[in-house]
Amino acid sequence: MEHDWMQVKVTRKEIAAEGVVSFELRAADAGPLPEFSAGSHIDVELPNGMVRQYSLCNPSHEHDQYEIAVLLDTTGRGGSRSAHEQLMPGAALRIGAPRNHFALVAARRSILLAGGIGVTPILCMAERLTETDSEFEMHYCSRSLARTAFVQRIRSSAFSGRVRFHFDDGNDAQKLDTRAVLAAPSADTHLYVCGPKGFMDHVILTAKSLGWSEGNIHYEYFAGAELDRSRDSRFEVKLASTGQLIPVARDQSVIQALTAHGVEVPVSCEQGVCGTCVMRVIEGIPDHRDMYFTDAEHAANDRFTPCCSRAKSALLVIDF
Ligand code: FES
Repeated sequence: MEHDWMQVKVTRKEIAAEGVVSFELRAADAGPLPEFSAGSHIDVELPNGMVRQYSLCNPSHEHDQYEIAVLLDTTGRGGSRSAHEQLMPGAALRIGAPRNHFALVAARRSILLAGGIGVTPILCMAERLTETDSEFEMHYCSRSLARTAFVQRIRSSAFSGRVRFHFDDGNDAQKLDTRAVLAAPSADTHLYVCGPKGFMDHVILTAKSLGWSEGNIHYEYFAGAELDRSRDSRFEVKLASTGQLIPVARDQSVIQALTAHGVEVPVSCEQGVCGTCVMRVIEGIPDHRDMYFTDAEHAANDRFTPCCSRAKSALLVIDF
């Protein structure tokens, strides 16, 4: 990927919960790091060479360090295992500058919903809303207390009274009542949700069914969903600048097809999460498979993520 990489050093590694480790990163020259806002993430080049996105979870006024937390995904492609097993205190690594696709907007009231490791950007938001004396409530769902990261940090924070924990293995009385939490949509109340896909789909669908407008629902997926690829078929992409036609085989991504023909496109997550690869579509209908764009942006069909999205039409003309 084209990047302005920065060299940083791991200055602390801690177990944040069962299956979760957190890392403190500081600039290799011990200088300040670029500023970031709540909800930002960074690209991290892991020891095994994979690049993954992690939300920053330290308070956004801190300029001398970044903190990230990584959940071990034993079924994943090895990124989280590399972080857990190979990334040690003192290690040098490359990261990208913070980017934010999940920013807080000014609102009378905010509702923050975190599922599992999705707490990382939400935690940073809670810190920020507290700093700005803004009204909010936070709900943090996880499987069990042992698997819940940052419990002590939250309980000893200035905003602890605004946070409710909900454990899957707890009694019914403490379970998240999504409909009750989202019962009062209004133009000046904004909802932020981050967590596993099932959790997010449930929250977003519930919000929509209760009358929340799309513009007031903010979300960020942290991992690509499994897709059914059994009906994938071949199609062609055409480069608008040269007219070159490039076939995309049924078992090939658009990025792979472009690369095979010498066309380099910046790419990072390869899962439709980060937006690095976004291209403009001039003609044809994309088959959107990403979690980066909103429903309205998907419906516009004028941009797509070639790392994972395909085509519903036989031909896609792309702005390249
Ligand atoms: Fe991340 Fe395509 S590379 S969305």
